[in-house]
Amino acid sequence: MIRILFLNSSSQLGGAEWVLHDVVTHLDAKRFTSLVVLPKPGPLLDKLRDAGIDVRLMSPFEPLLGLGRYSRWMEIGRMLPAFARALTGLFHLKRIIEQERIDIVHAHGIKMHFLSGALRLVINTPLIWHLHDFVRQRRFYPLYVRLAEACPSLIIVNSHAVAADLGRMRNIAVVHNGVDIDSFSPVERQRDGSLRVGIIGMLAPWKGHHVFLDAARLVSRQVDQVTFWIIGDEIYDTAGHRGYRQQLEEWVRVNNLEQYVRFTGFRSDVARVINTLDVVVHASIEPEPFGRVLIEAMACGKPVIASNAGGVPEIVEHEVTGLLTRPRDAQQLAGMIMRLLQDESERKRFGLAGRRRVEQHFSLQRQVHRIEAIYESLMSGRWSVGNEEER
Ligand code: UDP
Ligand code: GLC
Repeated sequence: MIRILFLNSSSQLGGAEWVLHDVVTHLDAKRFTSLVVLPKPGPLLDKLRDAGIDVRLMSPFEPLLGLGRYSRWMEIGRMLPAFARALTGLFHLKRIIEQERIDIVHAHGIKMHFLSGALRLVINTPLIWHLHDFVRQRRFYPLYVRLAEACPSLIIVNSHAVAADLGRMRNIAVVHNGVDIDSFSPVERQRDGSLRVGIIGMLAPWKGHHVFLDAARLVSRQVDQVTFWIIGDEIYDTAGHRGYRQQLEEWVRVNNLEQYVRFTGFRSDVARVINTLDVVVHASIEPEPFGRVLIEAMACGKPVIASNAGGVPEIVEHEVTGLLTRPRDAQQLAGMIMRLLQDESERKRFGLAGRRRVEQHFSLQRQVHRIEAIYESLMSGRWSVGNEEER
């Protein structure tokens, strides 16, 4: 039996947390046991406990949650006492690792990478970093790279794009995310002549909901009976992640689009919501490291239009499973939305091809098998983890 300790810095349900949740709840229970440590309560904690997973809270890490991609130096400075407090948490973790006889620590997200890096000073347990983000443009990149070479036995990244961004390193394994293809599967909806275009994900400026809305404004002038659905909410407490929803709602009012646009807030039944849509849009204005919402939409047989940057072209095949747009180009996005709204057979063709592609390359089963193989090779000292093939 291999015992894994998972660390994550948020208990909200964003993409990285869904990855953790899906992997932990699908590992082969005959070969692996899981223990998860989270900094505070939240929907991830509830879902894991509902699934019978052992989850512990470690509050000394909580103050660090305020740090994020929009944090300024001053805020980071103010956090120094929080880092000091987190160090006391490390000794607590050390105790857990010893008491529970943990074989591997699997740390998700950058903050937990730094903390688990520090943990290596006091404990020898093999460490995996699971990186979900681009790091080269971040201030801490030079330090991160040095620690990445020294601390983890292995870094799992979610796309070739993230691997390339991290730079040449001896210990990177690309493992594409997967989706549960039974929960996310096509369901025919009753047609009433109306058409629905949706964007799914947390509300944050880099996700480009304003570009989506600008495209919605252009499309609504030309196509009758179309509505635009914004599925998701502001879920993270990190600096700069609040206030975007209000801006978007205000923009909708000022542009008189209330009759066309719906905000659903956070939904815990995304598969069901996707199945009510005709086209799914991804509009990130910065490169998306992976983009789970794309494989979820494709698994439900939906055509996708996605920003052509980051890990996205590893998922979406242009003119086969969907269309790739220039990020930030609302005009081009609007043109593509209209093209798909006007052509039901093309929507079906892309949707079918998308479902096939997910079954072949992005199933949860495939992702879990890859990670199980990594754990086993780490334990046996064999280094044959391989990589996802390049397209
Ligand atoms: N999601 C959700 N409820 C919502 C909106 C999004 O559960 O209302 C989920 C979505 O199904 C996906 C994840 O949040 O699994 C977003 O992951 P993605 O990798 O696309 O982006 P991230 O937010 O991690 O950058
Ligand atoms: C991060 C990335 C997203 C990715 C998710 C899961 O949140 O922003 O692109 O899909 O992690 O790996």
